[in-house]
Amino acid sequence: MSYSYPDGTSAIEAFDLTIEVGERVALVGPNGAGKSTLIQLLGGLIDPDSGSIAYFESETPADDLRDRIAVLPQQPDEYLFNSTVRDDLEYGPAQLSIPKAQARDRVDALAERLELTGLLDQPPFRLSGGEQRRAALASAVAVDPDLLLLDEPVADIDPAYRERILSLLEERSEDGDTQIVSTPNVDLVPHLADRVVLLDATGDVVADGPTEEILTDSSLLERCGLAAPTVTELFETAGAEELPLTVAEGAARLSDLLE
Ligand SMILES: Nc1ncnc2c1ncn2[C@@H]1O[C@H](COP(=O)(O)OP(=O)(O)OP(=O)(O)O)[C@@H](O)[C@H]1O
Ligand SMILES: [Mg+2]
Repeated sequence: MSYSYPDGTSAIEAFDLTIEVGERVALVGPNGAGKSTLIQLLGGLIDPDSGSIAYFESETPADDLRDRIAVLPQQPDEYLFNSTVRDDLEYGPAQLSIPKAQARDRVDALAERLELTGLLDQPPFRLSGGEQRRAALASAVAVDPDLLLLDEPVADIDPAYRERILSLLEERSEDGDTQIVSTPNVDLVPHLADRVVLLDATGDVVADGPTEEILTDSSLLERCGLAAPTVTELFETAGAEELPLTVAEGAARLSDLLE
């Protein structure tokens, strides 16, 4: 598919990708590469100028799959428009005619998990940026979608909340949902995805493969204006042959060496 914004800016050109059910895929690329445009196209928020998207092996438009697809937009306040956070979280389930008591239980459990309980009666515009992102994520997950499209799900989230979000996403993935996330932050990718679709600044797909393969190829990443994860770079600079991707992997390697 291809997509240009109304002012003529070409954001996506001849993009072609197949994602299997149950995969966790990261769209990784520098600012302006077209990640958010792709998330909006995949979520049916905008329509491609040419080409099309087939979901779950059918040509059904995203609009008809509201009970199966959910989006966390890069600007979370776009999706928070009710008078309280609770109303926002219960809005999706209500649209899908999920019984009110069931929706309430689901929202309460999610709110507890993402530490939003104390904020449920607040108007969403009064939340901080990180709180809004957590609320918008809870609102996306509240419909229990099969396909979750997440635009920078842990941007501006502090480490403690980040762990909660990462574990929620991992659990949902283990339960079989499909996740497509966008991020320019390579350090986070190993925690979010097993497969990386790497975009360069012009939005071309320059690589598509297992996370460990793409994130250890520093010259490939450099061509896209990115660098390897910090831990990976550290080990590479020190001359290691096998490169860890995460702090936990790096620490395990170091403690072997220090014994
Ligand atoms: N509403 C818009 N009108 C015109 N051009 C736009 C609009 N939104 C984005 N663009 C342009 O489309 C291209 C892709 O933007 P997009 O927001 O998809 O990038 P991104 O990869 O998500 O970047 P970031 O990492 O900064 O979030 C950029 O060149 C951007 O300037
Ligand atoms: Mg973006």
